[in-house]
Amino acid sequence: MESISKNDRSKLWLELWRDLFSSPIHLDSAISKRPGPAKGWLAESFGVTLRRPTQVFKEAGIRTQGAEWWNWSPEQLAEWEGARKLSVFWSSFSSADAIRSRFKSGLAVESDYPPEVLKKWVADFGPEVAKRLVDQFGQPPRVSVRLTQALSPEEFLTQVKADSIHLGQAKPSRWAARGIVFNDYAPVLSAPATKDGFEKGLFEIQDEGSQVMAAFALDPLTQMSLLSDRPTQSKPSLDLEALRNAKAPSPLNVIDACAGAGGKTLALADLLHGRGRVYAYDTSLKKIQALKKRVRGQASNIQAMTIPNGEETQFLKKYAASADIVLVDAPCSGWGVFRRNPDIKWRQDREKLSEMPEIQLRLLGEYQALVKKGGRLVFGVCTFRPEESTAVVEAFGKKHPEFKSVGGGYLGPESCDGFYMFAWERS
Ligand SMILES: C[S@@+](CC[C@H](N)C(=O)[O-])C[C@H]1O[C@@H](n2cnc3c(N)ncnc32)[C@H](O)[C@@H]1O
Repeated sequence: MESISKNDRSKLWLELWRDLFSSPIHLDSAISKRPGPAKGWLAESFGVTLRRPTQVFKEAGIRTQGAEWWNWSPEQLAEWEGARKLSVFWSSFSSADAIRSRFKSGLAVESDYPPEVLKKWVADFGPEVAKRLVDQFGQPPRVSVRLTQALSPEEFLTQVKADSIHLGQAKPSRWAARGIVFNDYAPVLSAPATKDGFEKGLFEIQDEGSQVMAAFALDPLTQMSLLSDRPTQSKPSLDLEALRNAKAPSPLNVIDACAGAGGKTLALADLLHGRGRVYAYDTSLKKIQALKKRVRGQASNIQAMTIPNGEETQFLKKYAASADIVLVDAPCSGWGVFRRNPDIKWRQDREKLSEMPEIQLRLLGEYQALVKKGGRLVFGVCTFRPEESTAVVEAFGKKHPEFKSVGGGYLGPESCDGFYMFAWERS
C-alpha cells in the first residue's frame, strides 16, 4: 500500500464509496474487484467506517444530523459530501496496520445501527442479546478458509506459520471441522505460502457458519449441538477432530437449490469425498458461471444448472422425488452478515423485507418436490429475523405435514456470520 500515493488513496476510497452505494454490490465483492495492494487498506478503512460510524465521524471531524443518516437512500449516500472528507481522512493512513492500531480501541455503540434494527433485536430476543449483537457485529470479520479433504489443518497451519509476514496468525475454527480462522485480514490467495494450494483447489475462502450449514445439510443431528434458539449463543461442543477423521458418508444425490457462486456446493461435494452427486441450481446465470469457474476441475461430482425464475416446477418435473437431500439456502435480508457487509444496514427497503418470507416459503414449496421419501429438506438463511426463520419453518410445517421436523436453530455471530438453519425428513 505504501507504493500508492496519498492522492491516489483518496481517489480509490471515494470511487469505492460511490460504487458501493450506486449499485447493489456488497462491500466484500466491491473490495474484491479493487487492485491487490489496496485491498487490505480499503477493507480496513471501509470496515471501520461502516461498522463503527459514530467513532469514525468523531475522529474525522464529520457531523451528521443524528439518526437522519440512517434514512438516507443509497443514492444520497453515494453523493454525500461527507464521503469526500472521509476519503481525505483515510488517505492519511498509509496501511491497514496503521488503521488497525488507531482504531484498536473502541467498541460499536447503539448509534452505529439503524434504530429500527435495534428495536427489532430487543423485541425479538431481549436487550441482552441485542447488546451482544451490537458488540459482535462491530468487530472486524475474520478471514476463514475451508480445507478440502486433501489438506490437513496441521499442514495448512505449518504453511501459514512459515509466512507470518503476509498471513499473521491462524487457528482451527471452533465450529467448522475443516475451517481455519485468521486473526486479521490475510491475503491467502496471493501469499507465497498459500497461493499454490489455492490454485490447486486445496482450500476455499468460506465463512465458518457457511461451512456449518453445508455440514448440517449432510448430518443435521451432529451439527445441531452447535445451534441455539437465539443468536449469540452458539455452543462450540463438537468433537471436530472426530468429524475430520470420519469416514465418507454413503454416496448421496444432493441438490443445492440456491447455490449462488457455489460456496456450499463445493463444501458439500468435498464432504461427500467426491462421491455421489451435487446438483447446483440458481436463477442467476452469472452466479452459475462463477460457480463453474470456481469448481475449476477440483470436484467431478458437481453439476450446475441455471433455473428460470418462476418456472421451477415445470423445469424440474423430471427430477421429482430424486434427491436424498435438498438444501434451500434462500435469499434473505442478510441481517446475519452485518459484520462482513455492514453496508446492508443502509439497504433496509421495508417493502423488500416484507416480501422475503413469501419468497422463502415459495422456494421451499417448489424444491420440496425434489426430495425422495425418507430424504431430507434443509432450509437456511443468513439472518436472525424470526419472520424469515422460525415463522417460515412453522408455515412450511403446517402446509406440508408429510415433512417431519428434524430440528434446527441459530448459529453465530460470535466469530462467524449469523445463520438460521432447519431440517425436515419426508415421511
Ligand atoms: C443466500 S444466496 C445463496 C448463497 C450460496 N448458497 C452460497 O453458499 O454462496 C441465495 C441465492 O438464491 C438464488 N435464487 C433466487 N431465486 C431462486 C430460485 N427461484 N431458484 C434458485 N435459486 C434462486 C439467488 O440468485 C441467490 O444466489
